[in-house]
Amino acid sequence: MKFGYFDDRNREYVITEPETPLPWINYLGCQAYFGIISNTAGGYSFYRDARLRRLTRYRYNNVPPDLGGRYIYLRDDESKEFWSPSWLPTRHKLKDYSCRHGMGYTVIGSTYSGIEAHTRYFVPLDENLEIWQLTVTNHRTTRASLSGFASIEFCLWDAQDDATNFQRNLNIGQVEVDDGVIYHKTEYRERRNHFAWFASSQPGAGFETQREVFLGRNRGWDKPAAVEAGQLTNSIAHGWSPVGVHQVKLELEPGETRQIVFALGYHENPVDQKFDPAGSQIINKRTVKPVIAKYLDPVQADAAFERLRLYWDGLLSVFQVNTPDIHTNRMVNIWNAYQCMATFNMSRSASSFESGIGRGLGFRDSNQDLLGFVHMAPARARERILDLAATQLATGGAYHQYQPLTKRGNNDIGSGFNDDPHWLIVGVSAYLKETGDWSILDEPVPYDNEPGSEQPLYQHLRRSFNYTLARLGPHGLPLIGRADWNDCLNLNCFSDTPGQSFQTTTNKDGKVAESVFIAGLFVYAGRELAAIAKHRGLTEEAQVYLDEIARMEAVIHEHGWDGEWFLRAYDDFGNKIGSKDCEEGKIFIESNGFCALAGIGLEDGRAESALNSVGEHLATENGIVLQQPAYSRYYLNLGEISSYPPGYKENAGIFCHVNPWVMIGETRLGRGDRAHDYYSRINPSARENISDLHRCEPYVYSQMIAGKDAPTFGEAKNSWLTGTAAWNYYAIAQWILGVRTSIDGLRIAPVIPKSWPGFTAMRTFRGAVYRIVIERKGEGNQIALTVDGTPIEGNVVPAPTDGRKEISVHGVLS
Ligand code: GLC
Ligand code: GLC
Repeated sequence: MKFGYFDDRNREYVITEPETPLPWINYLGCQAYFGIISNTAGGYSFYRDARLRRLTRYRYNNVPPDLGGRYIYLRDDESKEFWSPSWLPTRHKLKDYSCRHGMGYTVIGSTYSGIEAHTRYFVPLDENLEIWQLTVTNHRTTRASLSGFASIEFCLWDAQDDATNFQRNLNIGQVEVDDGVIYHKTEYRERRNHFAWFASSQPGAGFETQREVFLGRNRGWDKPAAVEAGQLTNSIAHGWSPVGVHQVKLELEPGETRQIVFALGYHENPVDQKFDPAGSQIINKRTVKPVIAKYLDPVQADAAFERLRLYWDGLLSVFQVNTPDIHTNRMVNIWNAYQCMATFNMSRSASSFESGIGRGLGFRDSNQDLLGFVHMAPARARERILDLAATQLATGGAYHQYQPLTKRGNNDIGSGFNDDPHWLIVGVSAYLKETGDWSILDEPVPYDNEPGSEQPLYQHLRRSFNYTLARLGPHGLPLIGRADWNDCLNLNCFSDTPGQSFQTTTNKDGKVAESVFIAGLFVYAGRELAAIAKHRGLTEEAQVYLDEIARMEAVIHEHGWDGEWFLRAYDDFGNKIGSKDCEEGKIFIESNGFCALAGIGLEDGRAESALNSVGEHLATENGIVLQQPAYSRYYLNLGEISSYPPGYKENAGIFCHVNPWVMIGETRLGRGDRAHDYYSRINPSARENISDLHRCEPYVYSQMIAGKDAPTFGEAKNSWLTGTAAWNYYAIAQWILGVRTSIDGLRIAPVIPKSWPGFTAMRTFRGAVYRIVIERKGEGNQIALTVDGTPIEGNVVPAPTDGRKEISVHGVLS
């Protein structure tokens, strides 16, 4: 069952049924001011940090689930009936309800009792505000006398405190209303120099700023007393819960259309110019007023929308493909790339599942996210890399997370996740291959943000590599530390107390438990580092890396191979994990996927055997589960992984993030059919028809789909903010379609399904546009390339040296 459809031409997903299984959201904003918005106008806004600068309220895990948002009410002032064109909060039976989620904007609307109303929500580029453009049309044969109400509930900035510290925060709410604009200034009197504002292009009919006056006692957003009464009362909030509500009067002739612009924004004043007049307690509005005036003008609002559209056109045009598979096209050209920008902007902070008050930016997460957006935003990728590297410790280890506002490592979670340092190499390598900007390696970067400790970024990469060499276990495999990629495989924390952290309550010596996954990652990242060293002319150093890698590969073969697949780890007793000798958890996806991806065992058939075993034991129609058999009980020596019921999350859920490792591994074996088949199983667009089962948005990946052991097999959770976005994008773009960045140029190495006659692609790379046509003449993956009419050797198209801006590449697969 579907709840809408893809409008690919307009790059929108159109939801036609308001009662989606879960709120289906979109993101507004792409620089500093952000919001999430659901298909029924639920959601909230914030400036930079979803915890510390939250503008509006939203209550997570509420009943009903998605209340609190950017609500518009229309009221027929003759019949006194009122409704919300976005369905929530009033839940009227609407005609032609639709929600169009597009690139950085959302349009929600419907028709009710002959009145059509749509609201377009977006955040203009380079501004800290959001625009709601409400368009109302009277389709009746008679004149309509309407009131429109636009409403929000202010958050008192710190979302955590706002939701918990009531003894204080029910006293501190303050607003000003000036010139029809509502200003929210809680705590502005003391240590804040920022405030929020909410304005309407057509003020005058009334406002409300005290929630209880607007909603009425003991009422909810579905039946605000002031809307029912038809007249706002110009209340001023003193404490309690400040809201912003504007009323506008609409007299519409038959066929007449009117547009009203509402805008909500965030503004900062210099600390010494907070008040006007100086010495008063009144907000200085001199710099904000021109901004407000500008965007309340519908012409300016339209122009801002047009700029936003061009911005997204520009980002998405860097890579466009046309393949025989519509789901591939749609995800690569539109939604997967879009989701990669969201994971870059949000990391794991704010979604329907991430409350915005939890984790900072993950070191490994953010490095992996780079794989998905570096081609669209190279300058921002550079900045992100330098920020991440500056939190690296002098040991080469890394803080597991850092806070985006302070850019400091997070001490609560600390370090000691022994895979972390290698992801920096992977991220930097992706940046170098994309941009050819080798200067980044010479950038001085401190350790742990300690002034004076600066060393060239390249030195950080060396330390990342050496970190593992200094931490090898009894078999010569890397020690796992607190965890590796799998945060829930906690082999050094025997946790038996509720509430203890599985990751940070380390109570084992940590000198025994080893990770085969980190070994594979070490080989993969090490090869990237060796190539970087070689390119810098450090041939001997490169050889040292290659020797260490060869040694590690030998160890993997000797102690990391179980006969038909790669082991996962050794626990604190030196016992195998992910072996046929285990009772549960006999085979895991991570070590098998990553070793194959890293090319380990390609020559001797082990990679093939490993992936065949994955196919046999882990693959399902809904994707590849993390391990089998699922853990049926809690194992003290394994940790959080066995805390989840079977089939969920890391305990044999389909953890979508790691599925692409198997896809890439399959391409390394030359098996394009299997690679693309796995790709399709979790491709959200390809799952659109089972939206009632899948439940999450069909236009973006979710972190997890319940595995075959779960009673809800096939049900997705935790959509949007997941490493799944970047890895799937990387797998399809660079390995299956095979348009792959390399140090020397753009490599063209497709491993596509046998049935595909070919595909075309357009890729902007280091300043030139590559028009690529691939034709299949035989069933294999051998490629013969012709570049601008001339056949070339090999599969790497070097960057043009003669200033050409357009390059045509023709490839024949045989
Ligand atoms: C989450 C974390 C990520 C981790 C994964 C597996 O997605 O953000 O860092 O690798 O879970 O545990
Ligand atoms: C990852 C896992 C989650 C776990 C968390 C701990 O995000 O997906 O299940 O609780 O790591 O850090």
